[in-house]
Amino acid sequence: EKGNYRHFMAKEIHEQPEVISHTLASLVDMTSETVRLPSLPFDWKNLSRLTISACGTASFAGQVAKYWFERYARLPVEVDIASEFRYREAPLEKGGLSLFVSQSGETADTMAALRYCQENGQHTLAVVNVPTSTMSREADAMVRTLAGPEIGVASTKAFTCQLAVLACLAIGAGKARGTLTPEAEKELVRALIEAPRLMAEALRLDHEIEACARDLSKAKDVLYLGRGTSFPLALEGALKLKEISYIHAEGYAAGELKHGPIALIDESMPVVVIAPFDAIFEKTVSNMQEVAARGGRIILITDEEGAKAAALPGAKTIVMPAMPSVVSPLVYSVPIQLLAYHTAVLIGADVDQPRNLAKSVTVE
Ligand code: F6R
Repeated sequence: EKGNYRHFMAKEIHEQPEVISHTLASLVDMTSETVRLPSLPFDWKNLSRLTISACGTASFAGQVAKYWFERYARLPVEVDIASEFRYREAPLEKGGLSLFVSQSGETADTMAALRYCQENGQHTLAVVNVPTSTMSREADAMVRTLAGPEIGVASTKAFTCQLAVLACLAIGAGKARGTLTPEAEKELVRALIEAPRLMAEALRLDHEIEACARDLSKAKDVLYLGRGTSFPLALEGALKLKEISYIHAEGYAAGELKHGPIALIDESMPVVVIAPFDAIFEKTVSNMQEVAARGGRIILITDEEGAKAAALPGAKTIVMPAMPSVVSPLVYSVPIQLLAYHTAVLIGADVDQPRNLAKSVTVE
């Protein structure tokens, strides 16, 4: 039931600190601050490549994971949307690992990608929320996201639980491959354990975020920009807005701005910039200045340091708590989801049952 919330989506957004805690508790040892993965039928050390396939929001979780696996486990990753992957006849080295991410575990294209990989001699690992699903049964191994039932058609808590599981897998892979020292592992795990508290803090920014949503609710088009792991978040932010508010939105890697989309910028186009104060912050800010110089209306999601350093007078800023970069994709999901949610509510759209969409896409 919806409890005190108007919509399942709101309830599920607010459940995130709790379900992330559960999911993390199943994969990390809180006392020793180490990752504790279930036994898997392959050895991370023997892999030369990881292939990730998924659809929609789950594919953006896969895109974030690519940065993590490459950084922490030095494992080259290819991510593709399952509807493309299944038909493009990708050559796969025998004994490789293919990973599938799915809330429902029933998505037709992702299932077909899994079967293709099995036919081509891959180990298959599924990150799934519904444990009784076809994907859980057919994959060689499964790691559960403990998000609980997700009723709202727009995925929220399942997405952040996917991120939590994928972060643990990447850290576990790094440990097994010897690319992460025990100290580095501890530091990452300690950061992840903070995610629920940081998400709860982000949830308290609800009113500020709602004020920004007023701006979005009047727009025809919205651009989302981010770099690094914030790039897939920009894609996710744009998808969330499109699917529940029916406002056209696009996510771009901030560095791609000048290769085309900058031509769209004018006073009527809000630009949401996702930029925690990290190693690539300065780069994103310079892209943001290019937007400001062309009269674009900016909504900047950053932390205190970032707000100070950006010093953009015209920008609306959502000031997040400071955090280690490994948790920022989980925590920054909260304002991204709330922005879409409040925009859709302001417009009067059916948040939990957007037109034309089904919760589980079992036909291709
Ligand atoms: C977006 C959304 C969809 C799903 C996609 C994959 O909010 O819900 O993009 O993420 O249809 O579904 P699963 O994860 O069930 O495979």
